[in-house]
Order: sequence, then structure tokens, then C-alpha cells
Amino acid sequence: MIIAIDGPAAAGKGTLARRISAHYGLPYLDTGALYRAVGLAMRLAGNDLTDEETAARVARDLDLALLEHPDLRSAQAGEAASRVAAMAGVRAALLDVQRDFARQPGGAVLDGRDIGTVVCPQADIKLFVTASPQERARRRWLELRERGEEAGFDDILAQVMARDARDKARAEAPLRPAQDAHLLDTSKLDIEAAFREARRIIGAHHQAGSGRRG
Ligand code: C5P
Repeated sequence: MIIAIDGPAAAGKGTLARRISAHYGLPYLDTGALYRAVGLAMRLAGNDLTDEETAARVARDLDLALLEHPDLRSAQAGEAASRVAAMAGVRAALLDVQRDFARQPGGAVLDGRDIGTVVCPQADIKLFVTASPQERARRRWLELRERGEEAGFDDILAQVMARDARDKARAEAPLRPAQDAHLLDTSKLDIEAAFREARRIIGAHHQAGSGRRG
């Protein structure tokens, strides 16, 4: 079973994906971390973030140790990620590793922006997780504060909205729900309620599948 989870920044995809992965015993890939690693590598090397040729080369030769870098989850790495993620060469370089991961026996859970539309259009279940920009900015603000990064709420809200706008407007694999995605608005849901709702959707899909087979 392949479960694709997409949605805008800080909608709660990662937390939900980890819970789903543990519950169903499926391996989990945070695909945003790959783009963050490319963005971070570009920043660390002092490269120009608009240099597509270099960014694509960095993505092809991605140093996986960067996935453990303490700054991977920083606001700067997120910003750099969304810049390099708009580049066709970067997306192409990261596509196979994501598809290979999804192809594991038994399936996998992947979260990102284009899993249900581009990486795994054949996914068994597609969830599109959203929340209001204010709620997402609040969550990101709390997350950054826990990491010891002080930032004003208004700045975070502006960053979240700018990142969404860039992710939606880009020509390559823009952020949008797949036609067959289940929308899950977590604005008023805590993680337990969101997880319950996701399990209900996955369970309903299973029942429909066994009904069809029977
Ligand atoms: O999910 P996360 O905030 O870590 O993603 C960082 C950035 O990586 C996103 O803003 C987006 O531009 C990019 N991304 C993407 N496609 C994915 C996952 C992430 O374009 N599948």
C-alpha cells in the first residue's frame, strides 16, 4: 500500500505521516527533507540560489549526511528548498530516489507537495492535508521556538505564505491536490483527531477494495 500525503508548509503532514507509518508498519520518506538538503548544501557552499545548473548537480550528487544536519529544519533551509524545488533539473534529479523508495515491497508512506500528482500518481491512498495560514504559522512558530530559533509570528506568517505562493505558482509539479485526493483540513484538529480521520479514510479505502475483490 502506497500512501501519498501532500499539502502546504506546516500543515501537519510530517507528524501525520509518521503516525500513519508507525501504525501500518510502512517505511516513511519525508521528501521535503531532500529539497531542504539541496537548499542547505547550496547555502553552505555559498552558491547562488538561482544557479539551476549547480543546484541540479548538487541534487544528483546529494550528500545524504545533510539529512542529519542541525540546520535542515531551519527557516532558511525551508526557504532555500522552495527556491531550488522550482527548478526542473533539481526535481528530475530527486525523482528516482523517491519512486524507488515507494516501490518497496509492502509499500510506503511519502509526504511532500507532488507525491499524489507526480511521484506516485498510482498511490493507493492520497491525502491532501491543509490548515489555515494562521494556524500553520502558529505551528511553525512553536516548532522554531522549540529549536531555539526566535522569530516574530508576523514574519513566520509572511514566510509561510510566500513559500505557499511559490510552491503553487511554479511550472514544475506545482502544489495542488490530485483529483482523487482526500482533503483533510487540520485547522481545528489536533494530531489525534487528524490521525483518527486519516485512519477512517484509509480504512474506508480498504473496505471498498475488498468489496470490489469479493
Ligand atoms: O515540507 P518541507 O517544508 O520540508 O518542504 C520544503 C520545500 O521543499 C517546500 O516548500 C517545497 O518547495 C519543496 N518540496 C517540493 N516537493 C516535495 C517536497 C518538498 O517541492 N515533494
